[in-house]
Amino acid sequence: MTATLELEAEIEEIVRKQTAAAGSAPKGIDRIVLTGFMGSGKTSVGSVLAERLGWRFLDLDAEIERRDGRSVPQIFAASGERGGEAHFRKLETAALATLLGQRSVVVALGGGAPEELGNRLLLEQTPRTAVVYLEAPLETLLERCEQDDTRTGTAVRPLLAEAEQRFAARRHLYERISAHRIETAARSIEAAADAILESLSRAS
Ligand code: S3P
Repeated sequence: MTATLELEAEIEEIVRKQTAAAGSAPKGIDRIVLTGFMGSGKTSVGSVLAERLGWRFLDLDAEIERRDGRSVPQIFAASGERGGEAHFRKLETAALATLLGQRSVVVALGGGAPEELGNRLLLEQTPRTAVVYLEAPLETLLERCEQDDTRTGTAVRPLLAEAEQRFAARRHLYERISAHRIETAARSIEAAADAILESLSRAS
């Protein structure tokens, strides 16, 4: 392909995305936040959803890692003031506040973010924000986490060993902060993204 043809193809792609976005962007909403337990598909569904809307996809864990310079497991494993779950939760709240300041974004939360009252208040008080709960039974969630670990060759979720207790403690919080609930066990990633758009357009 010549440089001119490449440029034309790029422009066509940008116009295609903008046209698609104008047609499907939910009315009155500037950001969609995905919540749910580890393995619920927040990152994979969120990326597809952002692509569908022509919006940016932002992952809260990735933002924490970018700002801190350490991976999530490294932060959890560190001792002293700059490590452990309590420190991770502080970093999480600061990163969430920053991400919620952006527009035309799909944000994937970490599974534990709704446990913090500060995070729940941030979500509740940010205007034009739709929170969507991606649901699945615990067995499905654990299977997906295991598949992720096999794919990456590492155990990337420090709290997976406590999954049962954490799931029980968090379920009602996911429900409480969300205006939309999408069952993901029987849906593909693409179908879950479509279901979110349908649910948002029904509500608008
Ligand atoms: C956590 C979930 C992880 C990550 C951290 C803590 C949790 O995110 O934020 O390991 O408390 O459930 P994912 O839900 O994206 O795995």
